[in-house]
Parts: sequence; structure tokens; C-alpha cells
Amino acid sequence: MLSRFFLLVSLICIASLLSVSAQEDEHTKKFPEGEGRDLVVTVCRQCHGLAATSDSRHTLDGWERIVNDMVNIGAALDKQQAETVSQYLANNFGPNSDKSEDKK
Ligand code: HEC
Repeated sequence: MLSRFFLLVSLICIASLLSVSAQEDEHTKKFPEGEGRDLVVTVCRQCHGLAATSDSRHTLDGWERIVNDMVNIGAALDKQQAETVSQYLANNFGPNSDKSEDKK
């Protein structure tokens, strides 16, 4: 009887762990692999959701401006990292990127 109870409890725990990691994927799967990706998914979610980034489309100039703005208000990126991030975003979230398609 007791062991059944523990089995049930552990199943619930596993289920909630799985749903948390599924949510994590939901946010990060729009960011394709590439240099700068890890910086984006860690640094750029500290103040707002990643959707603020993944739903935007900008040229390299535009991203440089935004990333510099973010650094000015507190994003933890040095000059080199900010440049890497801007390049990554311009490559993957440029004006020609398809908004409707979820990138893997
Ligand atoms: C220190 C907190 C903070 C961090 C870290 C941060 N942001 Fe922001 N972000 C903000 C705030 C506050 C706003 C809204 C005010 C504004 O537009 O300046 C914003 C707005 C934005 C916008 C919409 C603004 C526009 O002009 O379209 C984008 C896009 C964005 N952030 C991208 C990023 C990216 C990319 C990163 C990582 C390099 C990042 N943010 C990291 C605080 C932050």
C-alpha cells in the first residue's frame, strides 16, 4: 500500500520535471545552434522573455543598436561578446528570416 503511494508520488514528480524541461525547449528551440547562441539564451532572458528577441527581425545595424542598448541597461556582455551576439542575431533573426517558422 505504502509503496504504491510512493510510486504515485514519484510518477508525479517525474511528470512535472518533464513538463518543466518541455517549457524550457519551447523558449530555446527558436534559437539555432551557432556561435553566440548560448550567450543569447542565458543573458537575454534575464530581464524579459526570450520572445522579445526571437520575435524581432533586424539588420546587423539594428541588432548592434539593440544589443548595445541592452548592455547599457545592464546586460552582462563585454564588447567582443556583444559583437558575437549581434552577428548571431542578424544571421538568424534578420529581416529575411521567416517569422512563422519555428527554427530547430
Ligand atoms: C538588464 C536587463 C536586460 C537584459 C539583460 C536584456 N534586455 Fe532587452 N530589454 C530590456 C528592457 C528594460 C527593454 C524595454 C525597454 C527598451 O526598449 O529599451 C528591453 C527591450 C528589448 C527589445 C525590444 C526593443 C526594441 O527596440 O525593439 C529587444 C529586441 C531586446 N530587449 C533584446 C534583448 C537582447 C537580444 C538581449 C541580450 C543581448 C537583451 N535584450 C537583454 C532589458 C534587458
